[in-house]
Amino acid sequence: MDARAPSRYGEVYAAWKADPAGFWGEQAKAVDWITPPRAVFDPDQGAYGRWFVGGVCNTCHNAVDRHAASRPDQAAIIYDSPVTGTKRRISYAQLKEEVATFAAVLQDLGVEKGDRVIVYMPMVPEAAIAMLACARIGAIHSVVFGGFAAKELATRIDDCHPKVIVSASCGIEGSKVVAYKPLLDGAIDLSVAKPQACVILQRPQADASLVPGRDHDWAGLVAHARAAGRQADCVPVAATDPLYVLYTSGTTGKPKGVVRDNGGHMVALAWSMANLYGMRPGDVFWAASDVGWVVGHSYIVYAPLIAGVTSILYEGKPVGTPDPGAYWRVISEHGVNALFTAPTAFRAIKKEDPNAEHLKRYQLPTFRTLFLAGERADPDTVVWAETILGVPVIDHWWQTETGWCIAGNPVGLGALPVKPGSPTVPMPGYDVRIVDEGGRDLPANTMGSIVVKLPLPPGSFPTLWQQEERFRESYLAQFPGYYSTSDAGFVDDDGYLYIMGRTDDIINVAGHRLSTGGMEEVLSSHPDVAECAVIGMADQLKGEVPCGFVVLKAGVNKRPDEVEKELVALVREKIGPVAAFKLAIAVSRLPKTRSGKILRGTMKKIADGGEWSMPATIDDPAVLAEIEEALKDRR
Ligand code: COA
Ligand code: AMP
Repeated sequence: MDARAPSRYGEVYAAWKADPAGFWGEQAKAVDWITPPRAVFDPDQGAYGRWFVGGVCNTCHNAVDRHAASRPDQAAIIYDSPVTGTKRRISYAQLKEEVATFAAVLQDLGVEKGDRVIVYMPMVPEAAIAMLACARIGAIHSVVFGGFAAKELATRIDDCHPKVIVSASCGIEGSKVVAYKPLLDGAIDLSVAKPQACVILQRPQADASLVPGRDHDWAGLVAHARAAGRQADCVPVAATDPLYVLYTSGTTGKPKGVVRDNGGHMVALAWSMANLYGMRPGDVFWAASDVGWVVGHSYIVYAPLIAGVTSILYEGKPVGTPDPGAYWRVISEHGVNALFTAPTAFRAIKKEDPNAEHLKRYQLPTFRTLFLAGERADPDTVVWAETILGVPVIDHWWQTETGWCIAGNPVGLGALPVKPGSPTVPMPGYDVRIVDEGGRDLPANTMGSIVVKLPLPPGSFPTLWQQEERFRESYLAQFPGYYSTSDAGFVDDDGYLYIMGRTDDIINVAGHRLSTGGMEEVLSSHPDVAECAVIGMADQLKGEVPCGFVVLKAGVNKRPDEVEKELVALVREKIGPVAAFKLAIAVSRLPKTRSGKILRGTMKKIADGGEWSMPATIDDPAVLAEIEEALKDRR
């Protein structure tokens, strides 16, 4: 697509709006169906209707087998791991063999259609193979990010009751080897719904001890299945059957199990690859995220493969593995056409190499576009990236719940002019509105709650895993007829959307979504804590980091700084290092309104170092001065 050609966005969005079922019915032709859907959309099923009802399909067939037939030698996955010094090219034909074999291994362990399999793995090809193997046999995978602690994993085990857990001996975080197996064993000890079996990938960097009768060695099982000539066929599933459950932070410590279906997911991802990301079969796409996050599910594993694109699976960091030129090396070496990452990664590179000296060592002739998402893309970072790379930098906004982009700049249709600070415009499928507390539409340039008119498009979640009521309560109840995104923002005079922050207590730390409510639950569980409040504090690198204020119980004998250290350790132990909880501050009281509500908004303003004013409703103004003082040398 010629970047100067006028964008077809307006025409395509209007075509969707005029006839949503016709539009998605047309897009569904990109997918191989075993039985075509009876209805593109059935408004009478589910909480807001269901897509592609009556359709029978298999996601693994669409992601792997059909390309193994038509483009067997093309790389499906290129694994690039600077932390282990390993590179591996897996063709579509090889991927099919590996996935079909591991799917047979799962079947031999008793996994059947509809069973859940937890995947708790680092960024290795086996993680994608395990996911695709589940898809192949109709099992529902639930990938848990490696940076979560045993307790978080246990919560997920008890929610989805996996028959099998697939894990690895370790992950490698920069120069650290993080043993996964003790975390897995700890989680299984804590959980009630114990798995029947675990499959452990032994990595050379750490050897995990296996529990006899329960744990199996990945390599041993695969070798055995190969020797027996065992490969599993694709199992037909309903378009509306779950493909996976992905847990994401809610407002409490109990995460929400976002359900993704098979049919709508494939159709939406196929549309997005071509039209939003401008990718064609044979292109190379790199989502520098982790399979544990939605970005990894959608754009490391499923979308590139469904589209016949090569996907880069990178086990490393933007800096330190070994230097801030790591991203340029990968783009140059593997002919990457588009990179998708979080703004934090670029802030990290900019911090270490502000003049982009490392970029001079590489040629990037294939590189067309940089996509950013996961957190607000600050204009400084967008402009810096644009300047050093000389390609369009496209911010786009989405959520675990939607599975793909709500608002973006569709490069495949011809990019619209970029306005730094805005993810641009709604994608087909999303009728985005800005409303006030009563659900009334707000005029342009006015901040309000961002909602999406129901139904949500294909690919978005139909429900939460076995929590239909929580789904309706959390997302559909506040604004009847609309999906509440829990993001706030506005639309400008040109129809560009601006996302300004969450309306709930979720914060985004280095593009990772975390619940301050969940952290408060951990702090409150400490025997010396009377009450607490956790807020997200602006951070130059990670966008936001958590900061906890605690009031200690009367009569506590320890020094406040001792308790503060224990609290930092406790959050790491209970939630995991990914929470990046490094600051707990003991104060004499929390600022509250006269009716007892904690003034988190004002605390955040103080912590961010911005302007703040004394709330009229505060019960004791001196408390805020104490917080300001406490933060002075700690920030
Ligand atoms: N397994 C185990 N531990 C993990 C982990 C994993 N998969 N991922 C992160 N951690 C640990 C880190 O080692 C770190 O531990 P530490 O406190 O002992 O240093 C902690 O969790 C916090 O991780 P992170 O927030 O990633 O910080 P970092 O200092 O290791 O790296 C960046 C900073 C900017 C390099 C990193 O955040 C990054 O690459 N961000 C890109 C954003 C991104 O990929 N977002 C995903 C959504 S699109
Ligand atoms: P997650 O579910 O982890 O993808 O996090 C979703 C949340 O991240 C959204 O609700 C937003 O608050 C934030 N987010 C994601 N992408 C963007 C973006 N491009 N701009 C601003 N915020 C974003």
